[in-house]
Amino acid sequence: MAASELGIGIFDSGVGGLTVVQQLMAALPHEHLVYLGDTARTPYGTKSAAVVTRYTLENAQFLLDQGVKLLVVACNTMSAVALEALRRSTDVPVVGVIEPGARAAVAATRNRKVGVIGTEGTIASGSYTRALRALDPGLEIYTRACPLFVALAEEGWVDNAIAEQAAAMYLASLRQSRIDALVLGCTHYPLLARTIAAYLGPGVQLVDSATETAREVAAILAVRGLAAPPGPGSTSFFVTDVPERFIRIGSRFLGSAVDSAVRIER
Ligand code: DGL
Repeated sequence: MAASELGIGIFDSGVGGLTVVQQLMAALPHEHLVYLGDTARTPYGTKSAAVVTRYTLENAQFLLDQGVKLLVVACNTMSAVALEALRRSTDVPVVGVIEPGARAAVAATRNRKVGVIGTEGTIASGSYTRALRALDPGLEIYTRACPLFVALAEEGWVDNAIAEQAAAMYLASLRQSRIDALVLGCTHYPLLARTIAAYLGPGVQLVDSATETAREVAAILAVRGLAAPPGPGSTSFFVTDVPERFIRIGSRFLGSAVDSAVRIER
């Protein structure tokens, strides 16, 4: 089989990475996407960098064993703490979500005041701050961990009073800082985009790294001659715990039904 005919491996701590899969399906309809959600060990956002790095390498190995031509780390926490370790461990191209998100934020801001929200692990790592500064050293960057947003997104409480209150509590300091672009630096946050936008007002552009990541994947495939030949694409899902919950709530993250998922043993 030619390398271009191989699948793209995508992984996340659970359902969140399906927001990235949604964008990949739209941008690359001929590709075969193979997704792994580590539902048995989610969430990663509250775990140490050492543990997240170990899990990242294990998840990647499962997908590499399936024979994939490229890996997408569709999780901000893993991208923030383990991308370099993963790149060192494989020859397959690895795309994370941090650099694409940072690029989109730099393109979006006019006043050069950028906010970043994410899990505790992502914010503590400083990865977005480093990626943004590398692109524009003069940026003012304001960050905030918003751990409750993950639970709210999974619960489907994305636009009720509790979501609005959480947004107000987490985002007050960012609003005061007069940012005009905010990176949604967690797979789950695009589901809360309307509530976040309503609180921050029309002057703040929300940056969803999933869209930009899909663009980067398309560019890498094109440059390396790895784009799939024309024909119908496919998507298959693997999980590390029983699949019912993933299938049930996954459709909200994917934007279409998750028909089935296969449990793998860990
Ligand atoms: N996927 C994670 C991220 O984007 C959020 C969920 C978790 O904490 O595992 O950071």
